[in-house]
Amino acid sequence: MNDVLIHAENAVLTLTLNRESKRNAFTPEMYTCLTDALKQAQNNDEIRVVILQGQETFFSAGNDIADFLNPEGFGLHSPVMAFLQTLASFTKPVLASVCGPAVGIGSSLLLHCDLVVAGDNAAFSLPFVNLGLCPEAASSLLLPQLMGYHRAAEALLLGEPFMAEAALEVGWVNKVVVPSQANLVAKRWADKLAAKPVSAVMQTKALMKSSSAQGVKEVMQHEASVFARMLTEGPAKEALSAFMAHRKPDFSKA
Ligand code: COA
Repeated sequence: MNDVLIHAENAVLTLTLNRESKRNAFTPEMYTCLTDALKQAQNNDEIRVVILQGQETFFSAGNDIADFLNPEGFGLHSPVMAFLQTLASFTKPVLASVCGPAVGIGSSLLLHCDLVVAGDNAAFSLPFVNLGLCPEAASSLLLPQLMGYHRAAEALLLGEPFMAEAALEVGWVNKVVVPSQANLVAKRWADKLAAKPVSAVMQTKALMKSSSAQGVKEVMQHEASVFARMLTEGPAKEALSAFMAHRKPDFSKA
């Protein structure tokens, strides 16, 4: 079974995370599949909007923790970096539909999406510090910009989850609906966007992103080099090995 399902219909490309047994934890193969799909969508005039979605009970458990045990996989030229950079520089609208847990990169990637609809069961968390790690996906830049320093510190230092309504309040998501409606709402928005003049949509996105794009790229690269180093250090090794030994990380230690 494919871990990412790809479906194109009426100018909308839908990418569905489909690794249910591991709660859609991302593998390098999934990043590469998403990167390739985005690049093809970028060059295909028939695709005007992309949707990234999960299931009604979970969006993603973040990076596959088993892969964290191979720090070489997290350098500047890694599949995860290629995915993040492709998503961050993608010029057509990207919509996300998020229900249930959205952990780590499952939350931070949303900072590079244009519209986010959440199920009322969505829980956004960035538990990097609890795993002995640091933020990625330029979340150390974008989260404080989005919600203010102190709330970003709550998310990034304490690793506290933000439930759907709190995420709506701080502007992390656009709308909260019952989980069964989330993917439908994303599709409705996508169809609406696809019907608008494509040049106006893309130009507007480009203008909104233009002043921050270079900074986002630089911060993402800086975070990646720190992250790769921290993966080799004691606290991360201990937390990740604990998870692999089927003990959930103890987030209360934060
Ligand atoms: N990497 C690898 N495997 C993961 C995973 C991850 N990030 N998250 C979950 N899994 C696996 C579990 O090991 C389990 O596998 P098993 O059935 O072979 O034992 C399976 O997915 C189901 O996980 P489980 O914890 O039972 O599901 P849940 O619905 O009760 O909880 C989460 C879902 C996402 C809340 C929970 O799995 C979790 O906290 N995961 C860790 C998230 C994390 O710390 N990610 C790193 C972010 S930087």
